[in-house]
Amino acid sequence: MSSKLIAPSMLAADFGNLQRDTEMVNNSDADWFHIDVMDGHFVPNISYGMPVIQAIKKHATKPLDVHLMIEKPERYIEEFAKVGADIITVHYESTVHLHRTLRQIKDAGCKAGIVLNITTPLTVLEDILPECYMILLMSINPGFGGQKFEEVTYKRIKNLRKMIDEQGLDTRIEVDGGVTDQNIEKLVAAGADTFVAGSHVFKSDDPTATIKRLKDLANS
Ligand code: DX5
Ligand code: ZN
Repeated sequence: MSSKLIAPSMLAADFGNLQRDTEMVNNSDADWFHIDVMDGHFVPNISYGMPVIQAIKKHATKPLDVHLMIEKPERYIEEFAKVGADIITVHYESTVHLHRTLRQIKDAGCKAGIVLNITTPLTVLEDILPECYMILLMSINPGFGGQKFEEVTYKRIKNLRKMIDEQGLDTRIEVDGGVTDQNIEKLVAAGADTFVAGSHVFKSDDPTATIKRLKDLANS
C-alpha cells in the first residue's frame, strides 16, 4: 500500500498566528495542509474562504488538501484552484452532477476526491471510483473539530479498500474526524492511508512532536 500521509487540519490552528502555525506544519513530518471550508448551509458552521487559504498558501511549502463542506461546490472550483488548492474534495451529498464536478476540479489543475458522510452508502462510489485520486471518509458529522470518532468508520474503510482493490486502483483513503494516536494504527490496519488531525495536533503541548508520533505510528 502507498505511504501513509498526515494532514493537520488548519481549522484547529490559531488564526491570530496563522503564519507561525503554517510554518510549524512546514517544518514538521506532516505531508499536507488540510483546509476545511464551511458555508453555514451544507454544515451548521462557517469557517473561512479564499483570503485565508491565500494567506496559508503564501507561506505553505506543502500541498493544500481543500475539503469543501459547501452546497453546490461547482460554483467555486476555479476560485479555490486559483488561491492555491492542490487537492479538492467535494461531498457526494453536496453536488448533483458529481461526475462533472470532478472533471471541473481536474480541468482546474487539481487532484479530485469525493467525501462521504458517515451514513452515505459506499456503493455510490462504484462507477466513479476510477475518476478519484482519493476518497475521504468522514468519521464524525462534518462541521466542527474536536468531536468523538465514530466506530462504524473501521468497517467502512475495510469495505472501501476492498472495492478499490477489486477495481485494481490505487485510490487513497483519507479519514477525517477524531483521529488520534490512540486509533491511527487501527485505521491503518483497516486500510486507510491518509489522516486528518486537527485538535489532537493543535491542542497538544508540542504539535510538531504530535505530528511526528502520528506519522511514525501510521508507518510502523
Ligand atoms: C470537520 C472537519 C475536520 C476537522 C477535524 O468537519 O472536516 O477536518 O477539522 O478535526 P478533529 O481532528 O479535531 O476531529
Ligand atoms: Zn476536513
